[in-house]
This record gives sequence, structure tokens and C-alpha cells, in this order.
Amino acid sequence: MQRRSVLLPLLLVCAAAAAAAHAGGAECGLAERSGRARRDTRQAAQRQQAAAAAQQHAALHSPYPAPGTCATRLARGRRSSAGAGGPEAPRAPRRRRRAQEGGEQPAVSRALYFRGEGDQLRLKAEVELPRDAFTVQAWLRPEGGQKTPAVVAGLYDKCSYTTRDRGWVLGINTISDQGNREPRFFFSLKTDRARKVTTITDHRNYLANQWVHLAVTYDGRLMKLYVNGAQVATSGEQVGNIFSPLTLKCKVLMLGGNALNQNYRGYVEHFSLWRTARCQKEILSDMAMVTHEADAPLPQLVFQETLLNVKSIWSPMKDSPSLPQIEFTSHPGYLLDTSLDPPLCGQTVCDNKEVIASYNKLPNFRHKKVVRYRVVNIYDDHHHNPTVSREQIEFQHQQLNDAFSPYNITWELEVLEVKNSSLRHRLILANCEISKIGDDSCDPECNHTLTGYDGGDCRHMRHSSFNKKKQNGVCDMDCNFERYSFDGGDCCNPEITDVTKTCFDPDSPHRAYLDVKELKNRLQLDGSTHLNIFFANSSEEELAGVATWPWDKEALVHLGGIVLNPSFYGIAGHTHTMIHEIGHSLGLYHVFRGISEILSCNDPCMETEPSFETGDLCHDTNPAPKHKTCGDPAPGNDMCGFRSFQDTPFNNFMSYTDDDCTNSFTPNQVARMHCYLDLVYQSWQPVKKPAPIAITPQIVDRMGTFITLEWFPPIDRHFFER
Ligand SMILES: *[C@@H]1O[C@H](CO)[C@@H](O)[C@H](O)[C@H]1NC(C)=O
Ligand SMILES: *[C@@H]1O[C@H](CO)[C@@H](O)[C@H](O)[C@H]1NC(C)=O
Ligand SMILES: *[C@@H]1O[C@H](CO)[C@@H](O)[C@H](O)[C@H]1NC(C)=O
Ligand SMILES: *[C@@H]1O[C@H](CO)[C@@H](O)[C@H](O)[C@H]1NC(C)=O
Ligand SMILES: [Zn+2]
Repeated sequence: MQRRSVLLPLLLVCAAAAAAAHAGGAECGLAERSGRARRDTRQAAQRQQAAAAAQQHAALHSPYPAPGTCATRLARGRRSSAGAGGPEAPRAPRRRRRAQEGGEQPAVSRALYFRGEGDQLRLKAEVELPRDAFTVQAWLRPEGGQKTPAVVAGLYDKCSYTTRDRGWVLGINTISDQGNREPRFFFSLKTDRARKVTTITDHRNYLANQWVHLAVTYDGRLMKLYVNGAQVATSGEQVGNIFSPLTLKCKVLMLGGNALNQNYRGYVEHFSLWRTARCQKEILSDMAMVTHEADAPLPQLVFQETLLNVKSIWSPMKDSPSLPQIEFTSHPGYLLDTSLDPPLCGQTVCDNKEVIASYNKLPNFRHKKVVRYRVVNIYDDHHHNPTVSREQIEFQHQQLNDAFSPYNITWELEVLEVKNSSLRHRLILANCEISKIGDDSCDPECNHTLTGYDGGDCRHMRHSSFNKKKQNGVCDMDCNFERYSFDGGDCCNPEITDVTKTCFDPDSPHRAYLDVKELKNRLQLDGSTHLNIFFANSSEEELAGVATWPWDKEALVHLGGIVLNPSFYGIAGHTHTMIHEIGHSLGLYHVFRGISEILSCNDPCMETEPSFETGDLCHDTNPAPKHKTCGDPAPGNDMCGFRSFQDTPFNNFMSYTDDDCTNSFTPNQVARMHCYLDLVYQSWQPVKKPAPIAITPQIVDRMGTFITLEWFPPIDRHFFER
């Protein structure tokens, strides 16, 4: 629609040019000029669009699909699965697991909550600040979206502006890492004699709303930053005393922000200041002290904030609007350093080996799931001539449930009958970008009699057509090409001709064809309640089906779903295409991905042995090349070190063998499908069962009569998008 409005002025210009040409008694041959000019303008206007289309085109036809697409030629027609939107790598949630706490039940403790609105605290002058070496430790629970920088604590010089940055700062700041702005913990220090500040930062982003233990130390020579007891950064750039005895009166330690209002938002607990640099072992033991405070204070400890009487140590800033609040918290320590990252050639948490192992191990993760799908069947205005027959729909439905129900997945059918002759009588092209029609190069996926052979691009032009007249009130098929302005419009004039057979002009509203995206845009079907099934014709190159990956951004909107060729639907011997495409929709790759769908033998997805991390990310499908014999492929030329392949999964639904050979999914594949049904497609299921937790609960600590269990939150769309 948008495209048409852009093109409208150009169309008018062209019509005028064509009319002028006609007045001069021009023939096809002469009109060619204006046609060309027009095409050039159009192409310029659409350069960007075409570039995007070209990318998608490459993804569809390259034997090496871009990651996140899955497209291959299929001997019995073609099957492909291409996400219209490029691959998006969702950020996998990282997690840290508790390692080092006392093992006693987490006690309720007091934390300071800073709203980030200037509610800062200043350490009272009576407290003697360490001058030559120090350690600051605290438990923090920062909120998301901090200021940059956000200062948790800092030592400043209040006497003169020029010396203000002498001291140290602990906080969060964004650093630029490979073009991304990454918010991380930092520790900066500028000693008494230093010329400039040194800043060291955590090796990765801070996690919002999670408790973390931070420690920074300086011993007169080395500055160090510890996160959860691990040393993550160090620098030897600063030396000597932090400040001289003379400037002691100028020094002020602030908590929750600084004079520039670079305020921190979140909790601070167990803030402590030491006059030595604690070593790592001591820091680990300090962390364990969270729940039972030391009875006899250690001599090097300047103070440890227990918040029993905040005002004895801290005073609010002069013009501070309010004090931070004291809240009771019971944080269970910090989290261990296991993460649910997908492997290098995976996409989501469902590609994580631990998660799939959980789905394999625990039958309850694979409990029975009912999933809705919707078949879009287009009729003419009189409710005749449907795209597919009732029998086809029913037979396919039966086959679908026969294939999936052994794996606890059953399908609930809805049929949407659309009565619209204007849609029914048009060719729906499965994978041809309309802008490629008449673009001067033959695109096989657009080559069809009803596109005028790609607007003439796929047709060798004979000179005989030069003698034919255009715009003579008759549709001359010999002039019906882009380079002759599609016979000056005669072939797209419904008064003159049956435009559903002759209108090839991609710019005409009467054209004989639509692409699937246009169909989806017209129908605007909700993709969040059902898996939508559309039918489309392919061009001369047979295409059996296209599916949307669960990680595509279209997965749950009207542009997602599956597109099938009606001749591979509900017909005996041709029912496994839909099963295969649904496999893609539920996150399955081809079983030959690790051999035939890689860029080179160095591709991270190259599969040398069955693996959770390479190839189709299933450990129970042996490496296999693409082939269609019902058996192991015959030994052949060397393929990335393979000469022959044994025990290949040729009877798997995700192979390219025929219906009479394919009959099963493997347990790892079933685990993946269940995982994606939980992660992405819960809204397709009528009964909303609570999603499982991603991995089985684990005992992470034992102490006396207590054990500590830990598990991930349930996986759902929310988990996915984090
Ligand atoms: C189907 O679900 C039940 C529990 O609801 C489970 O015992 C069974 O193993 C599951 N079957 C498969 C194939 O996963
Ligand atoms: C049929 O579809 C076309 C194109 O979407 C639309 O313009 C027309 O209004 C529809 N006709 C009916 C009867 O719904
Ligand atoms: C285009 O399709 C026709 C059949 O409709 C075929 O004969 C021709 O070879 C095709 N052209 C190309 C270049 O693929
Ligand atoms: C595909 O093309 C055939 C023949 O032109 C036609 O019968 C069929 O209805 C078309 N199907 C779709 C979905 O366009
Ligand atoms: Zn496929």
C-alpha cells in the first residue's frame, strides 16, 4: 500500500508519456524508451526496498542459507523455511548462582534504598578516612536504567574545584564495547600525586535487580575490582597515598551519588570501609559474614554499616530533599556463574544443552500440549472453487495428529473460509518479491506465465513485436512486457481484457498475482492465537513450503505462519511437507544442517559428530548430507572430512526423503519442540499450563541441616525477551 502511494506520481508521468507516444503513432519499439526511463525512476525510488529484497532472495536461494533462515532446494518440489526478518540473536539471560554464603537461612537484614533523586549520604567527619590503603565492600541491588555514570560511593575533595576528582569512585558507567554501550561496574582512582584518573571496569554488564557483592581495594600500588568475590579487573597505574594529611579536612565520602547528581538507584547493604586492602580470601569470608556479623570488630575495619543507627555515621547532604529509606530485605546471597547461553550456532535458551537435557529427562516438561492452527482456504464470491478441498483438510489434519500425538503434541484445527473472487482468481506467489518483476534480470522464483515470465525478464524477446501497436484498445500479449510498458496499460484494463490472466504490470492494482506478504497483509490474521497456514503457488521452480522460525520477529504476528503449496497438502503421499514445515516452526533444523547447510568446513555449525552445539543442535541425529534416498547416502567425495555417513536419520521428518520413508522425530527434536511451545507459543495453546522451569532444581549448597536449592524461573516469552 505504501509502495503504491509512492509510485502514483510516477505512474501519472508514465501515462502522460505513453499518451504522447501514442499520439505520435508510436509502436512498441519506440515506446520502449519511455518504458525504460520509467523503470529507471522506479528502480531509483525503490533502491532500498530492492536491496532488502535481494537479501531475502539470497537467503532463499543460496545453498548456504543465512543463519536464521532455512532454505534449500528440494527434489520433490522445494521446501524452505525463511524468516522474512533476518536472524535476531536474542540475549540469553545470564545468571549467577549462589556459591559462598554461610549456609544458614538467609536472615532478614536492613538495606538502604536510594531513589536516585539526590537522597545521598555523607560520612560524618569524625570517621577517620583511610589514607594509604583501603577496601570498600558492599552488597548492591541496582535497578535497571541507571544514569551514566551512576555513583554508588565515592571519596571527593570539597575544597577546590580543581582537586575535586582526587579520590575514588565506585559506580556504574557505560563503556563502549564493539559499538554497543554497555553499563558496567567501575572503580576509578586518582591519588594525591597522580596526573589523571585510572578507571577499571567489570568484564560484563551489571544485572538489574540482582544482588551482587562488590569489593574494591587499593594497597598503594594496585587497584582491584572484585565482583562476587572474583577479581575482575586490576591496574597498577596509580601509586602512593590517596590524599595527604594536609587535605584530610577536604575529604568527603559520599554514598548514593555525588555533587554532580550522578545518583545511584537501588539498594546498598553491608557497606564497609577498611584501612587495608583485603585480599581475595578475606573478601570471600567477608561475603559469608552477611548473615552473622562479626562480634568483635576487626582492627582494620573503619566501619561496617548495619543501619541500626544511620545518623550516627552519616549525615544527609545539605539540600538533600530526603533521606534514603531503610528497607528490610532477605537476599539469599548471590548467584552462581552458570548461564543459559545458547551455543555459538544457536539462537535462544531452547538451544542450550542444559535446557534440552531437562526437557529430555523430565517427562512432565513434555506433558500433553494442544496447539491451535488455522487453515486459510480461499473461495470465490459464490463460495465455490476453494483453494483446497474439505477432504484435503481433513486428511491432512488426521496425518498431522498421527505424526505429532506420539510426542504429546496434538493439533486443533480451525478452518477460515475467505470468500473473495478477487483473491481467489489471482496467483499467490510463495517467494517472489514483486519489486523484482520487470527489473531487467530473470528471477526464476518470479518466472510464471501469470507474471508474464517475470515481466518479460525471463523471456527472450523477438523483434517481431516491434510491429505491434500499443494502446489500441486490445491487449497485445506480444507487447505485454515491462519494456513496452505492458502494452501501454491495455492488458491491465478490466474493460478490455480478463486482467486475472493478462495483467502483469507490478504497479497495476489489477495485476494477476500477489505475493504472500501482500496476501497476509490483506487478511491481517491474528498470529498470536493460531499457527496460520496459507496456500500459495510457486513459480516454475516448485516450492513445497515455507515456515517462520520461532525466533523470527514475525513468529506471533500476521506475517508469520506457514505457506504451503496446495499440491503438497492433504494428498496421499504428500502430507509430510506440512509436518516438516511445522517442525521448522517449532524450532527444528534440517537433520543435514551440519553438513549441507554450512558455509565452509570452518563454520561453527559444522557437525563432525552428533552434538547439541552444532548441526541441527540435536545429539541424537548423526551427521548427514542432504540426500533423498531412503537409506544412508552412498559413499562419495570428501565432504569436510567425511567420505561416508552411517546411521543417518533418513527416516526423520526433518530430512528430505519422501513421505513413505519419513516417520519420526528424535527425543532431542521433541525436547526442542516442547521447549519452543513453552518459550514462544504459549498463546497458541488453549489451556495455559504453567511453563516449566528451564532446568531442574539443583542443590547448590549444603550446610548442617540446611540445603540450598536453586532453579530458573519458568521459561516464557518474558524470559525469552529479557
Ligand atoms: C507425555 O506426557 C506424559 C506426562 O504427561 C509423560 O509421562 C510422557 O513421557 C510424555 N511422552 C513423551 C513422548 O514425551
Ligand atoms: C476482496 O479482496 C479485495 C482485496 O483485498 C478487496 O479489495 C475486496 O473488497 C474484497 N471483496 C470482498 C467482497 O470482500
Ligand atoms: C520460465 O518458465 C518457462 C515455463 O513457463 C520456462 O520454459 C523457461 O525456461 C523459464 N525461464 C527461465 C529462465 O527459468
Ligand atoms: C495455483 O495455481 C493453480 C493453477 O493455476 C490453481 O488451480 C490454484 O488454485 C492456485 N493456487 C493458489 C493457492 O493460488
Ligand atoms: Zn525444511
